[in-house]
Amino acid sequence: MTDTTDPKPRLTQMVSCAGCAAKLSPAALSAAVKGLFAGVPSDPNVLVGFGMLDDAGVYKLSEELALVQTTDFFPPVVDDPYLFGEIAAANALSDVYAMGGTPLTALNIVCFPSTQPTSILSDILRGGLAKCREAGVALLGGHTVDDPEIKFGLAVTGTVHPKQVWSNAGALAGDSLVLTKPIGIGTITTAAKSGLAPADVLDAAIETMRTLNKGARDAGASVGVHACTDVTGFSLMGHLTQMLRASGVSARVDSSRVPLLPGALELARAGVGPGGTARNRAHFGGAVGLPEGLDPALADLLFDPQTSGGLLFAVAGEKQSALLSALTAARLAPAVVGEVLELGKDAITVV
Ligand code: CO
Ligand code: CO
Repeated sequence: MTDTTDPKPRLTQMVSCAGCAAKLSPAALSAAVKGLFAGVPSDPNVLVGFGMLDDAGVYKLSEELALVQTTDFFPPVVDDPYLFGEIAAANALSDVYAMGGTPLTALNIVCFPSTQPTSILSDILRGGLAKCREAGVALLGGHTVDDPEIKFGLAVTGTVHPKQVWSNAGALAGDSLVLTKPIGIGTITTAAKSGLAPADVLDAAIETMRTLNKGARDAGASVGVHACTDVTGFSLMGHLTQMLRASGVSARVDSSRVPLLPGALELARAGVGPGGTARNRAHFGGAVGLPEGLDPALADLLFDPQTSGGLLFAVAGEKQSALLSALTAARLAPAVVGEVLELGKDAITVV
């Protein structure tokens, strides 16, 4: 039971499911939207729309300008309300960056129990506003619902040049796959919920989640990339699979080069993990070839749902070092996790 007079209630104890792991399973989602748009006439100005499994929608306003629109909100992934606000906002803004866009405006989306002190809500909103300011985004308003479980996020509008959209569909055989943040967030935040994550391990995960993907977008834009997605609830394997399918190619991922948050592998080996891992594996695992002898904990982390994860770029081989330099200059720690191949039997071959 949550004591409403407690000045420091633990946000993650008030909800059943945290962060992007609270997404509906990919299987349930695809079943629900199956056939939804059959027979609806297509709008030629929709450059990226429903059914394309991309990060955000893109709508052409003119030959020079397109809108980028997205929304994302979820239950607390950390106990501190201000940090939760920062993380949820960074995560929502990320889907505009993942399209190569510049976010301009945002609206708060809030579910909050009227039984809880409003100071908690103020702190969440202050955290969200701080990230909007850091991103140069104007917060215009929002909407609240009295709901037993706290949820927070943003609806974000941005712009992009119609010819410079980073869809999932541009990856080419020979491209390098570059990831801008380490993975393991779902495992660490699940461990933290039960008090199993050491403080320094949780702090590193929080620092990763609250980092905007703006620097990564700017670096990618300065170099030029073929495709981009952000790695969130569907895991590295899930989001990469979506990119590869949209592009009609396959990929090889070098498991030893996938960057892991400190402590994630140890927690996964101890059997800690969010339910989303199994759901992701059930939905995407059939298209992923895992090598014999791969550490089962590492295999789990490849399907671990991320909250506010990094950008995953497909970049031409000859531009790889320029991209890595630009990302490093933006104080990120990028990693080359694999290579795009011609379409093969599996979407992803892990080595
Ligand atoms: Co996304
Ligand atoms: Co999203």
